[in-house]
Amino acid sequence: MTARAALLPLALVATLAVGLLPASGQVGFEFMPDGGRGLLAQLFGGEQASLAELATQTHGEAEWRGYLGGLGADLTETEIETLAGYLSVNLPIDDTALEAAKTGGDLMSAFPADGKELAVANCQFCHSIFSGYLMQDRDAQGWRNTFASPFHREIQMTERQRETFALYSFTNTPLEYEDVPPELRF
Ligand code: HEC
Repeated sequence: MTARAALLPLALVATLAVGLLPASGQVGFEFMPDGGRGLLAQLFGGEQASLAELATQTHGEAEWRGYLGGLGADLTETEIETLAGYLSVNLPIDDTALEAAKTGGDLMSAFPADGKELAVANCQFCHSIFSGYLMQDRDAQGWRNTFASPFHREIQMTERQRETFALYSFTNTPLEYEDVPPELRF
C-alpha cells in the first residue's frame, strides 16, 4: 500500500472545498502566514465527516507532507510543511475533545491552537512580538531553546504546544520587514 493510500480514503479528497471559511488568524495578525489549524479550516472546515476521519489518524510529518502534496489542493510548499508539522504533532485528537466537538456541531473546535495562534497569544506581553518573534531567524531547535531561558520559564505552554509552535515558527519566520504593519514594528 502506498503512503497515500494508507491515509485517507479517496472519497475525502473529492470533498475538498478550498477557501470556504476564513482563516483562524487573530484580528490584526492577518499578515502572518496561517498556521495548521487555519489551513485545515480552509481545506476541510465545511466537511464535518472529513474532519472526524482526519482527527483519528496518526502519521509522521513526512507522511503527511506526501499526503497533502498529493491532494492537488491550492497549497504552497510552505503551507504543506506547516500543516504537515501541525498534524504530526497534534493528531490523533483525544476522544473526549472529539466527542465534545461533535456534540457542539463544530469539529474544528476539537483541533488545538496552531503555531500562529500560540505565538500571538504568548509572545507579545513582555516584549514586542516584532523583535522577539517575527524578525527572529531560528531553526526548530532554536525555537525550542527559547523555552529554556530563565525569563521564559513562566510561559504556560504544554510540551505539545511548544513543539507545534517550534515547527510553525521554523517554517514561517522570519517575516519580511515590509510585511509587518508599521504599528507593530517596534
Ligand atoms: C514572561 C515574560 C515573557 C514572555 C511571555 C515572553 N518573553 Fe521572550 N523574553 C522575555 C525577557 C525578560 C527577555 C530578555 C530581555 C529582552 O531581551 O527583552 C526575553 C527575550 C526573548 C528573546 C531574545 C533572547 C533569547 O532568548 O534568544 C527571544 C527570541 C524571545 N524572548 C522570544 C519569545 C517568544 C517566542 C515568546 C513566546 C513563546 C516570548 N519570548 C514570550 C520575557 C518574555
